[in-house]
Amino acid sequence: MLNVGVLTISDKGWQGQRYDASGEAIRNSPLVLDNSVVKYEVIPDEMDIIANKLSEWADEGSVDIILTTGGTGLGPRDVTPEATLSIVDKVVPGFTEAMRTQAFNATPFAILSRAVAGVRGKCLIINLPGSPKAVRECLEIISPALPHAVEILRGEVTEHATDTRRD
Ligand code: MTE
Repeated sequence: MLNVGVLTISDKGWQGQRYDASGEAIRNSPLVLDNSVVKYEVIPDEMDIIANKLSEWADEGSVDIILTTGGTGLGPRDVTPEATLSIVDKVVPGFTEAMRTQAFNATPFAILSRAVAGVRGKCLIINLPGSPKAVRECLEIISPALPHAVEILRGEVTEHATDTRRD
């Protein structure tokens, strides 16, 4: 069982001017339905607020993965990647490389997301873009790798996992 935190980053969502359909898309994704959402919040596109919330959740130790949505683009208020990079110990580029590369085949706009992923302590933090469609597409791409990533972070495995899709 993975413990998941869902952090929606949206000025309009925080002000109550927009329903959080992207947070809902994460909560309704097969990955999350099979596991457990233990934290959920909507916060504004503010560097300090994002960085503090990510550190607080990661350091409490109750979440294995934090999935953020929103604020990854080129807009003047989009600072989710910078806030994430300011608090992680290690960057894990593969998740967001795969998200951009695979989604690019369907929509060239995929490369407009500057999403990053990283580890703070034993918590994996992954930025997802802000639209519900992008959330669904990106989670489908990265979900197969998440259980093994968490096993490693928890120190539960020392052997390499076998990818059963291949052999
Ligand atoms: N990724 C996927 N898989 N599908 C999408 O439709 N939309 C893109 C991109 N990533 C998209 C996507 C668009 S249009 C933008 S502007 C950027 O994500 C940034 O979105 P954000 O600022 O809401 O995080």
